This record gives sequence, structure tokens and C-alpha cells, in this order.
Amino acid sequence: MRRKTVPKLPMSPTPSTETQRQKMVHLTTEILSPSEDNITKAANLLRNGQLVSFPTETVYGLGADATNDDAVAGIYAAKGRPSFNPLIAHVATIEAAQRYVYWSDDAQRVADAFWPGPLTIVLPLRPDSGISPIVTAGLDSLALRLPAHPLAQSLLQHVDRPVAAPSANPSGRISPTTAQHVFAGLNGKLAAILDGGPCAVGLESTIIGLVSTPTLLRPGGITQADLQAALGRSIDLHSAQDAISAPGQMVSHYAPSAQVRLNATSFAADELGLGFGSVECDLNLSPTGNLVEAASNLFSMLHLLDHRNSSKIAVSPIPSQGIGAAINDRLNRAAAPRD
Ligand code: TXA
Ligand code: MG
Repeated sequence: MRRKTVPKLPMSPTPSTETQRQKMVHLTTEILSPSEDNITKAANLLRNGQLVSFPTETVYGLGADATNDDAVAGIYAAKGRPSFNPLIAHVATIEAAQRYVYWSDDAQRVADAFWPGPLTIVLPLRPDSGISPIVTAGLDSLALRLPAHPLAQSLLQHVDRPVAAPSANPSGRISPTTAQHVFAGLNGKLAAILDGGPCAVGLESTIIGLVSTPTLLRPGGITQADLQAALGRSIDLHSAQDAISAPGQMVSHYAPSAQVRLNATSFAADELGLGFGSVECDLNLSPTGNLVEAASNLFSMLHLLDHRNSSKIAVSPIPSQGIGAAINDRLNRAAAPRD
């Protein structure tokens, strides 16, 4: 995928202009209950170039107006996110998505099957899209998502612009599934958090690339088999070597402070045990061995264990069928060696 020149990001903690400084520094971040007034307030903050976190059915996003370079640059600064890692643009309708990318029959098939919902579709960017090149990190493709969460939908309708939103966590750390997780990780770095309670799915969206051959770029709750059924043919699996088609698939990611050991069939005395199925452990992802329940508990339980001041977390084996593949994808990154 070709990269264009991207405006330089203000990654330094001392932004160049007074306006940028005022936009990015908040003494404290406001947590907004999900009332109509607060949805309007959050939408106006976004339209004014501020950062607002909002719930989706997967995880909380850190939103900014995707057409505003300064606002989008603020996302990278707040998260400490590498500038080569592009963002997902969130939209309220399929018609809105079609304004920014070259739509295709395959896009229509997967959108019909899974939108609104936890699926992100990568398509060729229209040159006249108006999307900030900082969103795509200079790529000529754009990742689009139409979330199902009613608060996200209502917010996107009020903003009436595409909203760029990565998961609302400091780069490389565990993704947030509650407003409190967002506050703990990013307080002072965004204007407000719209609090919609815990996220139901709990793992980030599945990403399918439809720029050339359909490719699964990130596993999630919608599985490779689900996508194949919707498309009526097989899809490629993204390979870890293909850094350019999935630039943000870092090997070490979702990392708690503690070291993580996987496929643990027993837990040592100095380890906190994150169990699955009927095992004795400190926290259990799903005592009955239900993978959907385990996915929705994964990040919140990693957050909880990480606050118990142990340097070691061990995790039971998780079967890789269905959403289990996505759970293991996240666990492998949480356990990967860090820089
Ligand atoms: O569930 C989700 O997808 C959440 C919620 C907030 O919508 N968002 C999320 O964003 O997980 P983030 O930034 O944490 O992950 C976005 C992923 C990254 O791995 C990034 O590299 C990839 O999407 N991505 C974005 N644009 C892309 C593009 N044009 N081509 C390939 N991959 C892209
Ligand atoms: Mg993320």
C-alpha cells in the first residue's frame, strides 16, 4: 500500500501553538452520564476539535473529528501512538461510509451481514474524501466501522462527521471496556468520556481488508468462517510478516505491567491465575467454559489482576474455535516480549 506525505504530528508534549495547547491539556477529564444533553455536549466537543471517549459494543474509543488534522493529531499525542499506525473512522450509516471509500460488492455483502456491529472494513480511500491523512497514516486505504452500540450511534448522528477512534488506552496497553479504564489510563488527555457502562463484546472489532483479495487483518468476534459465509468464498489470513497491509498489528500489545504466561495448566505460588473452565484460580474468564463470556471478561480481568501488584500473571489454555481465536490473538500479544 502506497503512503503519501503526512502532515507532521505534534508528538512533543509542548504543542507548537497556544490553541493546540488549550485543546490538548485538560485539568481533569469529565465523565458524562449518557443523557440526551450529554450526547449533544459530547458531539459539540468533537465538532470543536476536542477528544471524547465513547463506548462501542467492542471497547471504548478515543474519538476525534476525522476531517480535522489537529484533532486527529491529538489522538496520537494522547495515546503515545506511533504515527505509522492508522486509525478507524466511525460512521453512522453505510451511505456515509460510501462517501469516503470506493465501495464494492464484497463490501456490501459483509456490511449487509455485520453492520452495524463489530466489523471494520478496509477499502480504497477516495482522493476527495476530506478525511485527514493523519487518520490513514498516509495510506491510500481507509478502515471504516459502523458500531451497533446505541450511544455510539446517537453520538455519530449528532456529530454528523466521520469520527476517528482507536481504543482509548495508552498505546500498547490493555484496551478499555469501561469508562473507569479510560479515565485511569488517559485522565487529563481528553475533554470527556461518555459513560455507557461495560462493553458487551469486550474485544476489538474484526478487521477485513477488501483493497485487493479479501484478507482477515485482525481476528475478532466475527470469525473467518462468518466472513467466508457472507462473501461466499474463502478469505486469506493476514500473515505477521505483512507489516504494510496491517500496520498496527504490533507483536507486543494489550500488555499489563505484569509478565504474562500462557497455556498454564497450574499456577505457581507467585503467579496470579486467570482461569478458564473449572479450575482454581484468582479470577475466572468463564467457569463454564463459555468463550463469548471469556472474551467480554478478558480485558477487564487483565486490568483487575494488573492492579494487584503481582509481577506475574498466568492464563489457562483457551480453545481457539470461534471467538477463542481472537482471545488467543490478544493473549499472545499480551505475553509477547516487550521492547
Ligand atoms: O473495536 C474496535 O475496532 C475499536 C473501537 C473503538 O472501534 N477500535 C480499535 O482501534 O480497536 P485501534 O486503533 O486500537 O485498532 C485499529 C487497527 C490497527 O491495528 C490499525 O493498524 C488498523 O486498525 N488499521 C487502521 N487503518 C488501516 C488501514 N487503512 N489498513 C490496514 N489496517 C488499518
Ligand atoms: Mg487498540
